[in-house]
Amino acid sequence: MLTSQIAYRLKSAVWISAFSFLLCVVADLVSPTRSQASDARHEMVAAEGALAADAGLEVMKHGGNAVDAAVATSLVLGVTNAASCGIGGGGFMLIYWAQDHKLYGLDYRERAPMTVTPASYLRDGKPDERLARTGALAVAVPGELAGLDAALRRFGSMRFSQLSRQAIRLARDGFPISPHLAKDIRLTAADISHQPGFRTVFFNDAGLPLQAGAIAHNPALAALLERLGNDPVQDFYHGKSAHQLVDYLARNGGLLTLRDLAEYRPIWRSPISVEYRGYQVYTMPPPSSGGIVLEILKMIESEPIAHLAADSPRYLAYLVPMMRQGFVDRSAYADPAYVKVPVAQLLSASHILQAREVALRKNRAVPAIAVVHDHGTSNFCVVDRHRNVVVVTTTINTIFGAKMMVPEMGVVLNNEMDDFTVAPGVPNAFKLTQSAANEIAPGKRPLSSMSPLIAFRDGRPVLAAGGSGGPTIISSVLQVTLNQLDFRLTPAQAIAQPRVHDQADPDMVLAESNLPAATFSALRQMGYRVKSVSELGAVNSIRIDPEVLMGAFDQRKGGGVAGD
Ligand code: DON
Repeated sequence: MLTSQIAYRLKSAVWISAFSFLLCVVADLVSPTRSQASDARHEMVAAEGALAADAGLEVMKHGGNAVDAAVATSLVLGVTNAASCGIGGGGFMLIYWAQDHKLYGLDYRERAPMTVTPASYLRDGKPDERLARTGALAVAVPGELAGLDAALRRFGSMRFSQLSRQAIRLARDGFPISPHLAKDIRLTAADISHQPGFRTVFFNDAGLPLQAGAIAHNPALAALLERLGNDPVQDFYHGKSAHQLVDYLARNGGLLTLRDLAEYRPIWRSPISVEYRGYQVYTMPPPSSGGIVLEILKMIESEPIAHLAADSPRYLAYLVPMMRQGFVDRSAYADPAYVKVPVAQLLSASHILQAREVALRKNRAVPAIAVVHDHGTSNFCVVDRHRNVVVVTTTINTIFGAKMMVPEMGVVLNNEMDDFTVAPGVPNAFKLTQSAANEIAPGKRPLSSMSPLIAFRDGRPVLAAGGSGGPTIISSVLQVTLNQLDFRLTPAQAIAQPRVHDQADPDMVLAESNLPAATFSALRQMGYRVKSVSELGAVNSIRIDPEVLMGAFDQRKGGGVAGD
């Protein structure tokens, strides 16, 4: 709170950057918890970046609404959190519009180029998932700008050029490298340091990765954002940027064409919901995995958990098998334009009953191997003074996406093709072995774990949440929601709680190392293979009470809450 509000009043970009960075570092040092909280009365943004949260708040202070703020916040995140998201990627936006009391879901996820087929990912006749992970074949058609433009045209009150100002200023005048981004640059330096685009922005003159606190500049991105004016779709999907992007990919063996860009359209989808203990909980429909969060909530609803502790063995004995079963059912999820996804059936009372029974019989999957951590993707929540609520999860997939940056655009390209099933039995970067439903096809959108969520009580929005972390998004958003709705924790407490994750395959429960030792041993005694990990996912959330907004970001990844 203090971080963002004090920073907001300082006018100079450099001062804002330096000051909020310093406070974040100090907060990191003094705070033993894994979340950072804030209160406000009127409006709030909780994001994976303090400057992005500040940009959204500033828009609302100048009369903009939650969707205007979401556009500004997204664009700033694309600059400051470039390893995670940006205009080379895509996302989901879940909107509650107070005026008509309706929910809207916007799918601006990337789609496969029209020329790709599963055969494009064969090397020496064998499926090679690495082709979908790194390099030009990994890049799916970006949806970010088309999505932001569509949201703005439908709900916005400001023009795009007003909302891109902060992002342009930061890209042009400089932004501080966060500790998290510094880590991402270090982790991927071997893949990216030799490329002119990355080298200019994220490495110093000696070719060394910029450290946390160093000021980075992305003048090419600033120029591109400036050029977009008030019609980002024209330039990016039909104009100069489209040509630059396609030429760059073609030079590097990509298959994405000008036609792919010209034909890209975001899709408005009806959000799905369930009633959970008197709350109405909404999320995105497929190709989001939000329905899996809802299904697990329904499975656990009949268990009396409120009197248990969120890190207790008895609670986790319910949660883990149901989470696992939810992931088993995720195999039915994919792009609904290509596959009939039986969402209603999977959320029906009869299926929930059956799935619970199977879950509690501890359905086992194949043995496990390694565990993957990743940091692509960014989530943020916005609430404005009209009580419009927006939750955005946006991604370029894994750290720095395809590890490609178009130098003259300053844009990092996604590797969303790896979210598909490259071939039956071949796991992706998150060790997810997915079903045939999610196989690659021209024009198809890959299945996503991103699950933005808004919960209502008595017709009023009470909770917004979403997260990043590949498949751990599903389990992290689920647990932060349960921690608030059932255990009555504040957003900060709910986010700080240690989390667990079980995606059925690999057959293993991942548990954060600060889960009590007794809980670790109890889970092992129950027969689970439990692996201790430093962190699982990153969530931010806002609780919406009639008089006060309480927001928090996740210390696991860093961020900011800005409120007024
Ligand atoms: O849409 C998905 O499920 C993935 N592209 C998300 C990747 C992700 O969250 C990376 N880690 N933070």
